[in-house]
Formats: sequence, structure tokens, C-alpha cells
Amino acid sequence: MAGHQTILILDFGGQYNQLIARRVREQGVYCEVHPYHRALEKMEELRPIGVIFTGGPSSVYLEDSPHVDPAVFEAGIPVLGICYGIQAMAHALGGEIVTPRTREYGKTETFYDTGSLLFQGLPEQGVTWMSHTDYVLELPEGFRACARTASTPVAAMEDPARRLYGLQFHPEVLHTENGGAILKNFLYRVCRAEGDWRMEDLAKTAMASLREKVGDRRVMLALSGGVDSSVCAALLSKAVGDQLTAIFVDTGLMRKNEGDEVEAAFSPMPIHFIRVNAGERFLGALRGVEDPERKRKIIGEEFIRVFEAEAKKLGKVDFLAQGTIYPDVIESGLGDAAVIKSHHNVGGLPDHLDFQEILEPLRLLFKDEVRALGLELGLPEQLVYRQPFPGPGLGVRVLGEVTAEKVQTLQDADAIFREEMAKAGLDREVGQFFAVLTDARSVGVMGDGRTYDHTLALRAVTTSDFMTADWARIPYEVLERVSSRIVNEVRGVNRVVYDITSKPPGTIEWE
Ligand code: XMP
Repeated sequence: MAGHQTILILDFGGQYNQLIARRVREQGVYCEVHPYHRALEKMEELRPIGVIFTGGPSSVYLEDSPHVDPAVFEAGIPVLGICYGIQAMAHALGGEIVTPRTREYGKTETFYDTGSLLFQGLPEQGVTWMSHTDYVLELPEGFRACARTASTPVAAMEDPARRLYGLQFHPEVLHTENGGAILKNFLYRVCRAEGDWRMEDLAKTAMASLREKVGDRRVMLALSGGVDSSVCAALLSKAVGDQLTAIFVDTGLMRKNEGDEVEAAFSPMPIHFIRVNAGERFLGALRGVEDPERKRKIIGEEFIRVFEAEAKKLGKVDFLAQGTIYPDVIESGLGDAAVIKSHHNVGGLPDHLDFQEILEPLRLLFKDEVRALGLELGLPEQLVYRQPFPGPGLGVRVLGEVTAEKVQTLQDADAIFREEMAKAGLDREVGQFFAVLTDARSVGVMGDGRTYDHTLALRAVTTSDFMTADWARIPYEVLERVSSRIVNEVRGVNRVVYDITSKPPGTIEWE
């Protein structure tokens, strides 16, 4: 990009290509990912200060494996080959690759030659993450090995004169100790990066490309109030202003005050913001329904109907924007295209809406980058750091039949839980936490009277990916405060329990 030093990342089909991009951005350097076969064209266009080859599943000796044009190495630009990338580099320059009998996979103790620019300032050994069976047996001319493991003699190679480097392991994954420092060495010591890129630049680039793409046409967005769709809306608002119509369906099943918070954040923006208060309609559709799956289906269908009715009023729009982020994108393998996914947070949008194209401006970003972008765009912290919230909302946290009264009881209890967690400084530390209104009733005593009220469950988990989770060890004092406040302040609850089930076998939500 004009005005910034650029790293060109060439995608060889690896699963970590965008992760490498993110690690480069983290070091304050602008980068772009392109398919490996466009190497020369992109080098000409972008004038990069360095090139990185990603890993890939192939083996250099397979007939249709991706090969690199040797002209890439003749441009005098530093190159770092990672995993398959080191093999592609060695192969192209006349080295030899082998497929050994014993596989070295996963965490591997690795020894570095800290005289190499790549490993300067690092300890002499550390754990790295290996995920390819082939390795370089014979180095190409001009290269030397600069790291090894017990069974891989060339865990890294270099030809400092030509500024060509290769790593058999993945520096971009967190399992590799000092992986960030190795990439940083490549960027700053080898490519002489100056660190001239910031998140605000990403916002500017994204806005410029949205303006160019959208022109004077119209965009529609389903705003759920979640982080991704909110950042998407804020970005579009700055880019195309009132060409955006954001439709926010308030299901009445959001947390306490959340609908108003979403409105407060978006109504001052120069966009068409439409809030549909559909709470009664959702409750009507849920009347008498107890089965969790049926409740989910009903909420999803109702959502689509309400959204569709609003969208119809707009007539034809040109683009449907979605807050799809990188972890949602199913990669095609070589970075050319990705399967478009319906917005999972709103239970899937109708496929017969009247629009021509999908816009996904956050498609290459990771969650924490989306958050940073949201803050950069001026969104309030409570929106940007919002916890994941299921599309069906409190509809699946009120167990059994959902009524207005139960929803309110749960909202009040949940708000107390959130408030106390924030006061204790645990709200960012614990991955997700919320209250569940169970259908169990029990006998209690309050003052001199007998009560017969609901049992409320508190759920709090620590997790890195929401696929597995452990229950959070919240201090007893915090639980005590939450419990006593809820029983005292919330009508209809006389008992509070804490869920100590991990996932698996439990799920995070109760329904
Ligand atoms: P479970 O309960 O499956 O939840 O362990 C895993 C994560 O997903 C969230 N969740 C949903 N998110 N639509 C969503 O967008 C849904 O229908 C939905 N159901 C569960 C849940 O809050 C947790 O973070």
C-alpha cells in the first residue's frame, strides 16, 4: 500500500496463512496475502520489503504441488520460507528434500545458532511447533543450517548474503516459544522494517476500499449488537454513511438495557438505523413452548420474518454486509475465494433477499483485531468487549417456557452478576459468564415467611476457543456477594447455585 512498507505473504495453501499476516501486523508492519502463483506480479506491484512463503499441505515432489518461480529469489528482496515454504525454497534453489520414516510432529525441542540474524537475542534452545513430515536434507548452494532438532538437521537455513531464510517449524503459532521474536527479527533485522503501520491505517484502508467498491450504491446490514456486526456497521458508517441501512431486531431477549445500548451507540451515526422492537412478537411465538430445540428454531424463524419484512420496505439494495471474521471463513486452500457463510449470530438470513452482492469487510481479521478496530472507530467499550451471546439470547437461558416475567427476572439477576464481576475485575479475565433461570423451584425462608421460588444458576467459564471450556474458579467472596444481592434484590429467586461442569461433557449454554 502506498506510503507503507509492505510484506508480501505468498500463500501455499497452509492453514496458518492469515495467522502469519496477523503476526506481521502485530509487529507494526503492513502485509498482504496473495496466492503463490502471483508472486512476480505482486512483487512488481507492491514493491515489498520482504516476502514470506506460508506453509502448505503438499510435498514438493508431488506432481501438482505448488512451485515457486526461482525469479522470486533474484529480486534482491529478503525471503522467509515457513514449513512447506522452506522446502519450496530449497527445492527451487537445487536442495534436496526427504520424507523421513519417523515423523517429527508437534512440540519439538529446537537448538538455534544465535549468530543468525533470525535468532539473535534468543535463548539457544526452545520448543517449536512442527507440522510437516518432509524436511531439507541437502542445502542449496550458498545456504547453511542455523537451527536443528534431534531428528531434523535443517530446522532452519539461511543464505545471509542473498537474505534468504527458511524455517521448518511455524513461528506464527503460540506453541513456538519466541516465535514472535523470530518473525520480528526477520522483519526488523533482515527486512529493515520501520514499523510504520497502525490499526488506524487498517481502518483507513478498509474505508477506502469500501468506498471504491460501494460507489453510490446501497448497503443493508443486520445488526445484532454483537462485536462483529457492530464493528462492521461502524466501519461502513464511516465509509459510506447514509448509504447504509442497519436493521436491528430487538428480540426482547437481550440482556438488561442492551437494546437501548445498541441504539445509543448507532443512532447518532450518519446511517439509517432501524430498531424493530419485536419483543412481544417473539414472546407470543414462544408461548407454551418448552423444548430447547423448538425454542431455538422459533426464535431463528421469527428473526428472519421480522428482518425480511423490514428489508422489503427498503426495496432493492445492492449489498448485504456481514460481520464475518476470519475464524468464520472457510478457506478454499489458496486464498482466492472463501465460502460465504450466513450470519450465524442471527440464525441464518433468508437467501431470497433482494441484493446483488455480499460485503464482508472484516473477513481477514481476527477477533482481537476486530475489537481494536472497533475502539479505533469510536465504539463504546461495552460493545467492543461484549461477550459472545447466542443468537436466541435469553430464550435459551430461561429454561422451559419463556415468559416476560421470567425474562425480566433473569435480566435483573444477570445484570447483578455482571456488575459484581466487573467490580471484582474479573469481567475480562473470565471468558464468558451469565445467569440461567432454571425451572426448578425450591422452598426458602425470608424474614418470617416461607418462599417457593426459582433457582438461579450462575455459569462462568474460561476458554480459548469455546469448543472446550473449564468452569471458572471465581473467588467465594464474589460468589457470596452475587448470591446475596440476587436473592435480596430480584423478585422470584430464592436460591442461587454455581455450575461446576466443564465442556465437555456440559455445553456452555444450558439449552
Ligand atoms: P455451547 O453452549 O454450544 O456454546 O457450548 C458455545 C458458544 O457458542 C455460543 N452459542 C451461540 N452463538 N448462536 C450463536 O451465535 C447460537 O445459537 C449459539 N448458541 C450458543 C455460546 O454462548 C458459547 O459462547
